[in-house]
Amino acid sequence: MLMVVCCRHKTEATLAPLEIVELGRSVFQENCSSCHSLTGESGARPGPSLATARKSRDATAIRESIIEPDRTVVPGYPPMPDSFQHLSERELDAVVYFVANEVKP
Ligand code: HEC
Repeated sequence: MLMVVCCRHKTEATLAPLEIVELGRSVFQENCSSCHSLTGESGARPGPSLATARKSRDATAIRESIIEPDRTVVPGYPPMPDSFQHLSERELDAVVYFVANEVKP
């Protein structure tokens, strides 16, 4: 049984883990993958690879990067755009879960 580590109990109750992964993957592909890779290489993308973040930062910190992008900024990069208000709480939980856990892109 896969435990949901990052999401609030509300989401745990309403989404099975596999659904969280699938939703997180599609939210990531639509909103994040143009700027971030999940592997070690950022390639030509404007944002840092999230491979480091998923190892060194917990789900709360990853969530904060999305909803309050100005609060902490990775040195050497422009601040992440603050343009994710359209994501629902459920989509946010799912994408944080997807980034925070070792899920293949
Ligand atoms: C337009 C490009 C762009 C998009 C789209 C974008 N980001 Fe970012 N992101 C950045 C940049 C640039 C940084 C580095 C500066 C900073 O920390 O704000 C960053 C930083 C981050 C960090 C912190 C990384 C670290 O090592 O601490 C996380 C986590 C993150 N983004 C997650 C996401 C997620 C999840 C999405 C989709 C919901 C997303 N980003 C969409 C450009 C983007």
